[in-house]
Amino acid sequence: MTEIAYLNGEFLPLEKAQVSVLDRGFIFGDGVYEVIPVYSRRPFRLPEHLSRLQHSLDAIRLGNPMADADWTRLILELIGRHTGEDQSVYLQITRGVAKRDHAFPKDSKPTVFMMSGPLVTPSKDLVDNGVPCITAIDYRWLKCDVKSVSLLGNCLLRQSAADAGAVEVVLFRDGCLTEASASNVFVVRDGRLLAPPKNHLILPGITYDVVLEIASANGIPLESRIIPEQEVRTAQEIWITSSTKEVLPVTTLDGRPMGEGRPGALFRRIYALYQHYKQTVMRRAA
Ligand code: PDD
Repeated sequence: MTEIAYLNGEFLPLEKAQVSVLDRGFIFGDGVYEVIPVYSRRPFRLPEHLSRLQHSLDAIRLGNPMADADWTRLILELIGRHTGEDQSVYLQITRGVAKRDHAFPKDSKPTVFMMSGPLVTPSKDLVDNGVPCITAIDYRWLKCDVKSVSLLGNCLLRQSAADAGAVEVVLFRDGCLTEASASNVFVVRDGRLLAPPKNHLILPGITYDVVLEIASANGIPLESRIIPEQEVRTAQEIWITSSTKEVLPVTTLDGRPMGEGRPGALFRRIYALYQHYKQTVMRRAA
């Protein structure tokens, strides 16, 4: 089946979509992106994704090539051109094509690219049994709040997890939890949900916000604060969250069981609330 992509103003088959080798996204990783989950053909939390996109564009000093209403229209059109009910929309904006020079070109036109594929959320087996993770030092740059396409640090870290047969790598900077290579991380201690604060050291996850909102609305005690490594290693539960993983329990960390080595009670509660929330939001949008 031919997948349809969007590139610089036109919809075309994905394999026909091409950019110049001088595109600054290719040469420098000079661009930003978003991944938006789509349930029953409706983009989940689209305004929040577009607002994070604006934050990333501002951070790299690149003008937004489109107003939010135009993004919304194009994203809905892309979704409509695909057959799947649940999709994952990827969009990327780079600083465009220019002669290679680190400093910004004066008059390049941003390259705008979008594609959509099936949304593959974790299997029931992974949700029921949890996943293994490893840990590593977070050696990425100090602007992790920018959803930049320069992902070499994240790719190297994620590969170290894959090499170890793990699903993710939980990262520590200066002895404290930041996030994982492509997810945010939550910790449960003594019935309290702990989340690292939103700052330049982590991506402000859209799923992270949903989890905190759900926890708060349901009276689950929570704290957003700096979490020392020792508190992570001795936690009762660890979860990872992202638009594609939703909420997933971590049952071993560096080969050692977390808590009882099974998904914890608070995870099961939040997971059910998350699924319920998704359905409610999608019904409302219908
Ligand atoms: N990654 N932290 C990092 C480093 C991420 O790359 C992601 C998402 C998250 C979670 O953010 P959200 O809940 O908004 O998906 C946190 C996406 C899915 C990706 O790069 O494919």
